[in-house]
Amino acid sequence: MSSDARTPNNRPVLQVGPLKPSLAQTLQDAYASYVLPDEPAERERFLTSHGGEITAVVTSGRTGVDAELMAGLPNLGAVVNFGVGYDTTDVEAAARRGIAVSNTPDVLTDCVADTAVGLMIDVLRQFSAADRYVRQGRWPVDGNYPLTRQVSNTRVGIIGMGRIGSAIAHRLTAFGCSIRYHNRRPVVDSAFTYVPSRVELARQVDVLVVAAAGGADTRNLVDREVLEALGADGYLINISRGSVVDETALVDALAEGMLAGAGLDVFAGEPHVPEALLTMDNVVVLPHVASGTVQTRDAMEKLTLRNLDSFLQTGKVVTPVPVPAPA
Ligand code: 8YV
Repeated sequence: MSSDARTPNNRPVLQVGPLKPSLAQTLQDAYASYVLPDEPAERERFLTSHGGEITAVVTSGRTGVDAELMAGLPNLGAVVNFGVGYDTTDVEAAARRGIAVSNTPDVLTDCVADTAVGLMIDVLRQFSAADRYVRQGRWPVDGNYPLTRQVSNTRVGIIGMGRIGSAIAHRLTAFGCSIRYHNRRPVVDSAFTYVPSRVELARQVDVLVVAAAGGADTRNLVDREVLEALGADGYLINISRGSVVDETALVDALAEGMLAGAGLDVFAGEPHVPEALLTMDNVVVLPHVASGTVQTRDAMEKLTLRNLDSFLQTGKVVTPVPVPAPA
């Protein structure tokens, strides 16, 4: 960027981590944003020279802003996050420093819920595996594809009955599925049955869908005990964050035949996926694409820019994330 071009009100913006190319371009063109260097020494030099100028950061759920970076940006007022999940940003540190954090809720709910249902159908009916069967020329040789598991009328458990969990429940109701859920607390006026224990929920259902937000509070919520309760006829679907599931326990459960299958859009160490999953025909792996449609990413981009503009003009973001209670 050229250092003489600044935002209209001279409040410099910093891009942290890769962003959707059109959003990164807009930040360059209309906000003359800086881009935080990746290389540690360069980053250090950048923060020493420009850290004090920055008032707003634009980042994504994949990168975020940790406490150390916040300390290097002493005048930071807002972290504007492209994505609904913001577990990579230290919201406690932000709250202590009076930094607002925004995300992009609602606009991606439909696409993420669609993906959860798509994964569920794919895993239970084995469409991806059956597609491979046809492409490999096995149909004429090995005959009809083995029978699979019915989707309609299954018993589904949802961990995390927020906006996305509710949209998944709504869709699956149309499939005749019975829905139960586990949450930090029951949802007022929910049409669905609340189950206080996640292990008990897993025991009661055929398919467990993970839709809880990521972060320290939900780390390994789906652990070995939950997977054992789901059992050898049970399926796991995860469209939230890899961290919510104990991935080692999941791989072991699948390898040992303790689980019928899994549909996963998210992983603990993205973009790396455990090697063992790649050879399992009862597992569908997606490269974190749940919100990845032209329409939804466009809406996310617009909401990100609305948050940025609002902060630059009024000092307030439009869709703030909840401020954590002081420890
Ligand atoms: C995005 C997501 O892929 O919104 C989220 O939390 O996980 C996805 O929609 C991601 O945030 C983009 O960086």
